[in-house]
Amino acid sequence: MIDRTPLIRLASVSKRFTVPGRRVPFQAVDDVSLDIGAGERFGIIGSSGAGKSTLLRLINLLEKPDAGRVQVGGKELTTLSRRDLRAARSGIGMIFQQFNLLQNATVHDNVAFPLSIQRPRLARADILARVLECLAVVGLTEKASSYPAQLSGGQKQRVAIARALATRPAVMLCDEPTSALDSETTRSVLDVLADINRRLGVTLVVVTHELSVARTLCERVAVMADGRIVEDLVLDRSGDRLETAISRANRRGALAPAPSIEGALPVEARPVQRVEAPTQRRVGGLPLPQRSVHV
Ligand SMILES: Nc1ncnc2c1ncn2[C@@H]1O[C@H](COP(=O)(O)OP(=O)(O)OP(=O)(O)O)[C@@H](O)[C@H]1O
Ligand SMILES: [Mg+2]
Repeated sequence: MIDRTPLIRLASVSKRFTVPGRRVPFQAVDDVSLDIGAGERFGIIGSSGAGKSTLLRLINLLEKPDAGRVQVGGKELTTLSRRDLRAARSGIGMIFQQFNLLQNATVHDNVAFPLSIQRPRLARADILARVLECLAVVGLTEKASSYPAQLSGGQKQRVAIARALATRPAVMLCDEPTSALDSETTRSVLDVLADINRRLGVTLVVVTHELSVARTLCERVAVMADGRIVEDLVLDRSGDRLETAISRANRRGALAPAPSIEGALPVEARPVQRVEAPTQRRVGGLPLPQRSVHV
């Protein structure tokens, strides 16, 4: 059983974009309500343009909703002052498909960057200690003095994960975290993400078009189409529920039947990993309610 006490709560959130040449704004996210429990590994899938990235960016208010409420860790982000929002965001890490590292900064400086912004008075020795801690989590301690150009794609993404971890987030938002990586490197990045979920209790919200990623990493998956969540399902060990939801979504046209998506589906359903209760009950500034183990 998963403890459903929501760490993230979206209540009727909507987001429209004005598009040049269109009189009516485009509805990217349409009245979405969603609860994600502390410690969950939650996936968002759907075809291109379905609104997945916009929904993810609404969680840390990188996109401001036109309507609805966004709560993380019991705080209503939509009502916070700019300063309080900055503090709340330090509890929400984010990683991107293209890693978004500072190219002319070392690995150490990349990971230290959010810390120096969030806690400008932190001593250099404390920053170094935290950076090394985060690099150890992703297995890259020996690369602290390297520059991004000297790293492989998988190593770059692991640096990005270390950077996101630096401020001890309770939540990690991942937008297509492995889409730029080959399958072997994908596995190492997924292992790191699963590890920080299990060991540190970090809640993962993962947007992906790779169904194998959703199946490997996530215990619950929402399917989006036209800005709405059309399915929200808890995965079982066989993965059958994901298969069924995907067939339904394909019938609705919610998922593009692209060869890459079909190719990402292994013939054998892979078991969803067992969720261990996190050893650390409090990560960053956000409380993590006790949760129990399921599957
Ligand atoms: N800043 C913006 N201005 C205008 N339209 C936008 C903006 N951001 C997103 N959109 C539009 O909103 C819709 C949803 O975009 P979003 O990036 O959330 O889709 P997605 O599901 O992540 O797609 P993909 O799988 O291709 O990344 C798209 O039609 C997109 O063109
Ligand atoms: Mg996207």
